[in-house]
Amino acid sequence: MAIFGKKKTEITLPEKLPEHIAFIMDGNGRWAKKRAMPRKFGHREGAKTFKKIMRYCKDIGIKNVSFYAFSTENWKRPKEEVEAIIELFREYILDVWNYIGEDVRVLFLGDKTFFDEDLQNKMNELEEETKNRREMTMLLAINYGGRDDIVHASKVLAEKVKNGELRSEDITEDLFQSYLYTLDVPDVDLMIRPSGEQRISNFLIWQSAYAEFYFTDILWPDFSTDDLNDAIIEFASRSRRFGGV
Ligand code: FPP
Repeated sequence: MAIFGKKKTEITLPEKLPEHIAFIMDGNGRWAKKRAMPRKFGHREGAKTFKKIMRYCKDIGIKNVSFYAFSTENWKRPKEEVEAIIELFREYILDVWNYIGEDVRVLFLGDKTFFDEDLQNKMNELEEETKNRREMTMLLAINYGGRDDIVHASKVLAEKVKNGELRSEDITEDLFQSYLYTLDVPDVDLMIRPSGEQRISNFLIWQSAYAEFYFTDILWPDFSTDDLNDAIIEFASRSRRFGGV
């Protein structure tokens, strides 16, 4: 696909795009600190980048896009910062139709029960209203942890075995995977982490078993569609063998 980058040069995106891209939206705090601003300003800018990148992924035809907005560990942050992130999240959820458009399924990854009831209701409503849409799936991880995802799925399956609905010998990798928060969404092909850190931080650990990782020093609020093009082009040049030769 030929598109124009910000530098107005024509870029040809590879024919075979990743089916699932996951973003760890890191570096908001440092972005704000560099400007002598409170961390919450960094998150506000980061949320704008989220919206821009989400829209661009849809425009170029990425089928599944995940964003790590809040982890099970992020509750340890100062109360003011946690509240600012949740407030932003609320704002963006209310505005969601303006940036997801038609045909986008919304899935929230993580335990919603930690949030206020109105927010939980809104999230459940959005999932319900969009559940049959398939042009693209946007997955927003809030109060999410990869280990928690696996424990949660295990508990559901254990209950089923206990009730006699399922035999333990019928539990396969595919069946297990369908009980993760990501449901039927395919594995992550490309995991992007900006801001210079090179780790997965408990994000989609099962689903990234064969993901390609792309790291860049750019801080998330500065991450642009050109940067995403670079990541996609690099992804296409890698040889993926999935354990084969
Ligand atoms: C990590 O950067 C970022 C977060 C913990 C929060 C991400 C949240 C948003 C982008 C806004 C809310 C999301 C939506 C979908 C509206 P950091 O704070 O760890 O940065 P640092 O490593 O520079 O300190």
